[in-house]
Amino acid sequence: MKLIFIGAPGAGKGTHAAFVSSRLEIPAISTGALLREEIKNRTPLGIQIAGTMDEGKLVADEIVLNIIKMRIAMPDCRKGFILDGFPRTENQARELDKIVEIDHVVSIEVPDEIIEIRLEGRRVCKTCGAIYHIVDNPPKIQNVCDKCGSGLSIRHDDIPEVVKDRLKIYHHDTEPLKVYYASCGKLKEVEGAEDVRETERRVCRAIGIEL
Ligand code: AP5
Repeated sequence: MKLIFIGAPGAGKGTHAAFVSSRLEIPAISTGALLREEIKNRTPLGIQIAGTMDEGKLVADEIVLNIIKMRIAMPDCRKGFILDGFPRTENQARELDKIVEIDHVVSIEVPDEIIEIRLEGRRVCKTCGAIYHIVDNPPKIQNVCDKCGSGLSIRHDDIPEVVKDRLKIYHHDTEPLKVYYASCGKLKEVEGAEDVRETERRVCRAIGIEL
């Protein structure tokens, strides 16, 4: 199955993409995570985009498109994949349409006020990228990843002023994609303000996965 997860920053795309990925045994591909890896490794691309990402602005379409084209051509994507955080502009969506047929586009709907609270409490594993929340989805041991035992950190773009800018960019550039995908019958809107397990159930129901 080929899936796209869209939604505001902090809506839960990464959390639910990880769950569906393990259920369907297909990779979850986060453009944000791929770009952060470039920054962590101090590659020329990472150095070029670090400021843009810290400010919560979108990285240029050509850069992200190149990364996605290379990633979905890899052998582990033959059975399908989940794109988390891509496309984010209509241009990205049109370019993606030229190379692959998507089955469903899941839009996780969460009000901005809840997003702001969620991102204040998000913690991310420094090594494997697993996502936690200090209250709603805590690790078993405080600040230690359940999956790999590494320490947890706060993302640079989760500071409140940057979150406000990211939300503005989402509403202006990415939310219109819902109309784009609704017009071809692929959009599945899922209420994402409930707890993690309930939202997981809703996402699975929307794309026809049995739990
Ligand atoms: P990216 O990494 O994609 O960030 P984002 O879209 O802003 O989304 P987040 O990762 O912040 O949130 P999420 O929806 O995955 O939520 P999560 O599951 O973590 O992009 C970062 C940057 O990269 C962009 O700003 C841009 O610069 C660049 N970029 C990336 N893609 C690009 C593209 N296509 N084009 C151009 N630039 C691009 O959950 C959030 C928190 O809430 C966690 O703590 C989690 O535990 C908790 N939580 C989740 N669900 C629930 C729930 N139901 N109840 C309670 N808590 C919950």
